[in-house]
Amino acid sequence: MDRITFSVNGTQCSVGHEVDSDVSLNDYLRCRLHLPGTKYMCKEGGCGSCIVSVVAPAPDGTLRHISVNSCLVSVTSCQDWRVTTVEGLGSRQGYHPVQRALADHNGSQCGYCSPGWVMSMYSLLEANNYDLTQYEIENSFGSNTCRCTGYRPILDAFKSFAKDAPKPKSKLHDIEDLDICKKQGKCNKTCESWCFVAKKENPVVKKINLKDDRVWYRVHEIKDIFDIFNTEGTSSYMLVNGNTGRGASPIFAFPRVLIDIQPVDHLKMHYIDQNLVLGAGIVLSDVMRIFQTLAHDKEEFSYLQKLYEHLDLVAHIPVRNIGSIGGNLMVKHRQHTFSSDVFLLLESVGATLTIMSAADTIEVTPEHFLSLDMTGKLITNIKLPPLSKNYKFVSFKIMPRSQNAHASVNAAFLYQFDHHQHGLVLSARIVYGGLSGEFVHARITEDFLVLKNIFTNETLQGALVILAKELTVEEIAGEFKPEYRKKAALGLFYKGLLNLIPEAMIKPCYRSGARDMRKTRPLSCGTEVYDTNPIIWPVNEPMPKVEALIQCSGEAHYVNDVPNEPQEVFCALVTSDICVGEIESVDPSPAMELPGVLAFFTAKDIPGINSFIPSVIALFSPEGLLSDGKIMYYDQPIGIIVAETEKLANRAALLVNVKYKVDKNKPIITIRDARERDTSRISTFMIFPARDRGTNVQKVIKDCENIFWQYHYSMETQSCISRPSDDGIDVQSATQWLDLTHISISSVLKLEQSRINVSVPRCGGAYGAKISRATMIAAACSLVTYLMNRPCRFVMSMQANMRVIGKRFPSTLDYEVGVSDTGEIQYLEYHLFEDAGYMAGEPVIYFSLSAVKNCYDNRRWQYKFYTVNTDTPTNVYARAPGALEAIAMTEHMMEHIAWELDRDPVEIRLNNLNPEYSDVLEVTNTLLQDSEYYKRRQEVEQFNKLNRWKKRGLSLVMMSWPATNLIDFHVHLAVFHGDGTVIVKHGGTEIGQGMNTKVIQTVAYTLKISMDKIKVKPSDVNSNPNSYITGGSRATQAVCIGAIKCCQLLLDRLMPVRETLTNPTWEQLIQAAFEQGINLQTSYQVTSNDQQPHRSAGAAVCEVELDILTGEHDIRRVDIIEDVGSSLNPELDIGQIEGAFVMGLGYWTHEHLIYDEHTGELLTDRSWYYHVPLAKDIPIDFRVQLRRNSYNPIGTLGSKAVAEPPICLAVSVAFALKEAIRSSREDTGFPRTEWFNVDGPYTLEANVLHSHVKLEEFLFE
Ligand SMILES: Cc1cc2nc3c(=O)[nH]c(=O)nc-3n(C[C@H](O)[C@H](O)[C@H](O)COP(=O)(O)OP(=O)(O)OC[C@H]3O[C@@H](n4cnc5c(N)ncnc54)[C@H](O)[C@@H]3O)c2cc1C
Ligand code: FES
Ligand code: FES
Repeated sequence: MDRITFSVNGTQCSVGHEVDSDVSLNDYLRCRLHLPGTKYMCKEGGCGSCIVSVVAPAPDGTLRHISVNSCLVSVTSCQDWRVTTVEGLGSRQGYHPVQRALADHNGSQCGYCSPGWVMSMYSLLEANNYDLTQYEIENSFGSNTCRCTGYRPILDAFKSFAKDAPKPKSKLHDIEDLDICKKQGKCNKTCESWCFVAKKENPVVKKINLKDDRVWYRVHEIKDIFDIFNTEGTSSYMLVNGNTGRGASPIFAFPRVLIDIQPVDHLKMHYIDQNLVLGAGIVLSDVMRIFQTLAHDKEEFSYLQKLYEHLDLVAHIPVRNIGSIGGNLMVKHRQHTFSSDVFLLLESVGATLTIMSAADTIEVTPEHFLSLDMTGKLITNIKLPPLSKNYKFVSFKIMPRSQNAHASVNAAFLYQFDHHQHGLVLSARIVYGGLSGEFVHARITEDFLVLKNIFTNETLQGALVILAKELTVEEIAGEFKPEYRKKAALGLFYKGLLNLIPEAMIKPCYRSGARDMRKTRPLSCGTEVYDTNPIIWPVNEPMPKVEALIQCSGEAHYVNDVPNEPQEVFCALVTSDICVGEIESVDPSPAMELPGVLAFFTAKDIPGINSFIPSVIALFSPEGLLSDGKIMYYDQPIGIIVAETEKLANRAALLVNVKYKVDKNKPIITIRDARERDTSRISTFMIFPARDRGTNVQKVIKDCENIFWQYHYSMETQSCISRPSDDGIDVQSATQWLDLTHISISSVLKLEQSRINVSVPRCGGAYGAKISRATMIAAACSLVTYLMNRPCRFVMSMQANMRVIGKRFPSTLDYEVGVSDTGEIQYLEYHLFEDAGYMAGEPVIYFSLSAVKNCYDNRRWQYKFYTVNTDTPTNVYARAPGALEAIAMTEHMMEHIAWELDRDPVEIRLNNLNPEYSDVLEVTNTLLQDSEYYKRRQEVEQFNKLNRWKKRGLSLVMMSWPATNLIDFHVHLAVFHGDGTVIVKHGGTEIGQGMNTKVIQTVAYTLKISMDKIKVKPSDVNSNPNSYITGGSRATQAVCIGAIKCCQLLLDRLMPVRETLTNPTWEQLIQAAFEQGINLQTSYQVTSNDQQPHRSAGAAVCEVELDILTGEHDIRRVDIIEDVGSSLNPELDIGQIEGAFVMGLGYWTHEHLIYDEHTGELLTDRSWYYHVPLAKDIPIDFRVQLRRNSYNPIGTLGSKAVAEPPICLAVSVAFALKEAIRSSREDTGFPRTEWFNVDGPYTLEANVLHSHVKLEEFLFE
């Protein structure tokens, strides 16, 4: 029987008939080989947590080092691969320099993404012979997402390996640390076979009958493919090359016949026979290499350099390493609306495709190919023509973020110019993607341009008018509005010409339109400034997290890393596919018929109370676990499906047949909908009357502003494992709130708490989503264990996580403010509406109450707070819940006042500052000076005067962030008498904030022992019962207080013993105490009496540059100062600030959720659509300072809350962008003081549409 053989970390592996068609390399590593260091999240190539390193045979017969997304690769595709996982790279027996560098630079917070980063970097170094510049390194990580760190430390860590990196001051890691092979040039392996030529695979067809009744073939010749078509038929088959296409266009279940065409040499060949002929199986990385070489070597192919630059923006390196050119075209063929860059480029340069069938071989244009029936056919090669230097090519890809996003609109232009008459067009090819399923060429415009001098205003304007009429732009679910895409398409036409026109023929102010931001961003850098006092170390000592190395080596375990158990089952939620109505019937039989689907449970099966928030929990509202018959939002959980594998459970969940009585009314999705269509959804929460009213009202300003959801995007989705125990149930949950999880399971199962053991190892990101929602998943998982008496694992898919779990609260602000002519507020009516989702589950609004005044004098402000209910999931805490929204709204109002009065917004802010907040004033003054705000403001204005198509904006925001009162946490400390080592257990959760490190620092400081002696153990309800939420940036402070109290109790007990000894070592003291029968365990319950609320001051200055033609932006520089008191660990605190700010800049720029307004369904539920910032989205120059000489007398050892406040400062990005838009509007003719609202993030769409540029403004001179 045929098998596929490969190795993993040097161990031989083989797979065959025992695997299903959907077993990925990732599944195999984690579930069969029990190597959990390689993580997963999106399963579609979008997040990078699954990346591994592979040495694989290359088309030229050598072996090549590549990174791949193990989630996309079928395990049966891995023939002859040598896979290295993070475990194979290094471990506690010896870490790899890349692992060390990432840890030492504090490049991991929750650590869930870290193995993926390490493996990407390792592969990059290996693939490039350790010969990379900083720029090349920074450009290479479109593949990896980190939601915690803000990327700066990761980039610093990796750039330290560059050949042009500055030599580190201290001995960190650099390229010289790598054991590079002298013989081959560069490699760090012992010199064995892998350096050499690949062993040639035996070219016989392999056939494997897979476990799920699919057949897997591995073929070597084109003829083999047609033979298989002949024997198996073509009704259900798929050619598998890289198998990455499913990342772009998901596959629900594989067809019956799968043909691995990777080994077909004929599809990998390239040669020049006048045309450049590329085999369709060539992977995109190789295509890029070929293009670059030919562009350099052959004049007639010099245009390929531009194609190379465009392909550099396609997907990311691991996808390009295995994704083929033919596969890309076929994804486009399958889904015409896919804005394939490959298709675009080929069509624009006049390439042809060779299509082979059993009967014949034809050559077609890419456009023609789209209309072919490709059943039983193969793309064999692609031919690119040589082009003389009279041809000029230019292309663009507009994408919502810097890398790894499909094009919102892409365009490519090829003009043939008359050799003698400059600018005279002989032919034109104008090709667009992303506009509609069918629109490809702007043919009428192409014809119009022939024999015209294109570089005149007249031709340009004439062409634009025709093009505007000709473009067909349709609604595409999940994409920006047609109005934007059309404007952007027209902008690109103009931009293309700005790239081609000789400089002398163009008015200087228009030149700025030519630059493509995605291809020209400079290398980023960052600085961190803080005080540290070595006298009090280890507190206040800057150091990475104690878990950093085990995170970077994959040794840190998360809930889903527990090995599978015998009898284990997997579950998934069956959710509603209507928005509002009632369930009439549920028929699980289509799902149950799938082999391996085991059970289906509904609310009727719940033995206890159908609510995952028990009523004993103050401030939180009870909420049904499974629908009781009523449907309140799209994707509301209706039942739980149980299956033998996770993938099967997810697939089966979609097959359950539910019939509904549907409420035909259009759903209420937003606050605006509720205000316009059903005001009964709005309830007054609280009113705060003004305490004063000024009389100097010179201007009255009114407005209404809306902001929307933010998805938390934790890299570890909601996860739980439960198993039967001796007397009840053991549960491991990724939760920020053990106590709630505990009570909830008890109440759902009607089982005493004493029989339920809940623990949390750590969370792979949380940001508030795992406070009450983790409980929903834990309750469902435990229910399955309880009902089936079997271990159960519930790891939410990214799609389910996005659909079922609520998000950041959308908010609306209505205000009327009367101001003096210096902008001082005389009176204010401030109405804040917060969208709680279908029910007010979490008390987020309380945080708004204390945050809303920010740092301003609010005596004259009258507030009203409203809760709004919409037909969406219950919205939940999201980093700085309520506070971000309220502070942003207040800052927004300050901006508005400044605009109307035409004053610098800084002046308005300072004129309204509450004098009690001298800390904010101090921080702001320092920042104004350090950031050179006033000088740069002039520079920005000057830049904007000189440039029409790039605009800059500069913004300063101020913050006084309220830290709430401390809440209950239990802390437990024990000392072992054998060696004096100490363990601490606390009721908080390490979610990446560095809680455990700070606890160890405080314990070491208080007990005066080395940090090495102390370990923090995972939290569980048995050791640390009755502990509150890890959230609100206060839990670290709380558990550190608890740890100090435990130390003090211990020290009190040790005192009499110490007095009997002379200068005892810690170990001697402990041993003596033990011998005297002293209890060496202490515990403490921290309560609200242990600390007072405080406020944290901060300010940020942000400068952006906006491309008015496309809506893309660069964040040129950000300066932040935050007051963290006397930092317990400045390095971790800086990391929190950077990470929070970057999460915030995502919220204000490209994190954009789209719901179908008619059905209420979330349309953007994948990494393909929801774009969090990546490494090249962060500020190019990022400067973070901690306030100097600060000490918080009421904080833990002088410190303050840190993790949440800085996200509130990110609104500065939005205001800077707004200022840039304003400058463009002024050029168009809008009055400078005319305010405009940008609801939600400053997306490409918002930036372009609000600029309101007129086509007539597209000119050359
Ligand atoms: C995260 C991510 C980001 C991406 N971003 C972009 C982007 O920005 N721009 C862009 O253009 N693309 C993008 N892509 C798409 C990517 O380029 C394609 O997934 C890839 O090129 C497909 O190649 P493959 O070899 O993996 O195809 P496979 O997945 O193996 O196959 C895809 C389809 O093509 C068929 N097929 C494969 N080869 C042939 C052949 N020779 N003849 C006939 N049929 C064939 C298969 O049967 C299958 O139906 C992205 C993909 C991912 C996963
Ligand atoms: S899980 Fe593979 S890229 Fe996200
Ligand atoms: S450390 Fe990167 S996602 Fe948490």
